[in-house]
Amino acid sequence: MTIIVAVCSSKGGTGKTTTTANLGGMLAALGERVLLIDGDIQPGLSSYFKIDEPAEAGLVELVTRRDPTEAWDGVISRTSFPNLDLVVSNDRQGELQRWMESTPDGRIRLRRAVRALSGYDVVLIDSPGTRSPLLHAALLAGDFVLSPIMPSRLAAQEFARGMIEAVEDIDGVFRDGSIGTLYGLVNGVERTADSAAFVAALREAAFTRSQGRVRILNTQIPHTVAYANAATRALPVHLVEPVRRGPTPSAAETMRALVDELFEHLRDREIVMATDEETRHG
Ligand SMILES: Nc1ncnc2c1ncn2[C@@H]1O[C@H](COP(=O)(O)OP(=O)(O)O)[C@@H](O)[C@H]1O
Ligand SMILES: [Mg+2]
Repeated sequence: MTIIVAVCSSKGGTGKTTTTANLGGMLAALGERVLLIDGDIQPGLSSYFKIDEPAEAGLVELVTRRDPTEAWDGVISRTSFPNLDLVVSNDRQGELQRWMESTPDGRIRLRRAVRALSGYDVVLIDSPGTRSPLLHAALLAGDFVLSPIMPSRLAAQEFARGMIEAVEDIDGVFRDGSIGTLYGLVNGVERTADSAAFVAALREAAFTRSQGRVRILNTQIPHTVAYANAATRALPVHLVEPVRRGPTPSAAETMRALVDELFEHLRDREIVMATDEETRHG
């Protein structure tokens, strides 16, 4: 069984692409066969890792081809990391979202395609930070939703309003599209003490708004330079910051905690992929 995760927020810059890349990198290192799908028009995830074997097609073909099995022909690129494959965003004409709007089942095609896919343990779908057909398509495709939130009062309001409304957009509109639990992931925590009050308020707001469908994860991602460094070096962040001194958990510990919280069956799994190569060169 493939687990499909939609990484979504109705706001840009909350860490969707960063989280997709690094969670994918950690899962792949743990031996999971991972497919990343760049479901954003701005192709940030597409250029995150080095691509060893580029495919000729990508997101546009995956979404627009009618047959969910044939949709996969020639759309999967291979990154330089074992177990980590990628569907690039390739909407050069900027027509995909309009096509999705004007096609009756346009927002459901991605869901059908990922559900017809075999050979992967986890699929992570990145998405645009606006309420748009591609956000809806990602929300509909996921078994659950992972939604990064920056820890500020404004962000909490935006999360409660924007994200939950985006979910409500879908409820009742799509007969075969219900949405699983929405996990809020607090990202970019400067000081744990300050974020505690924020998280408590967020939990209460989210719970009230969503009748328990939203859960705020215990794992929080600290604000550290490792995330930007990892992006610059095209590496999963656990290789860039395997350990860290002081009270803040390292990026490797953080990503591992996130995996353990979201994928309970992987708790006893150990990192299987050779990683010293990359860390030594760093
Ligand atoms: N935990 C973090 N600590 C420091 N910088 C971060 C963190 N998470 C994300 N960033 C930075 O914030 C910016 C926006 O992140 P990104 O993942 O592109 O957001 P989104 O995809 O939601 O628009 C990037 O420059 C990224 O490196
Ligand atoms: Mg992004």
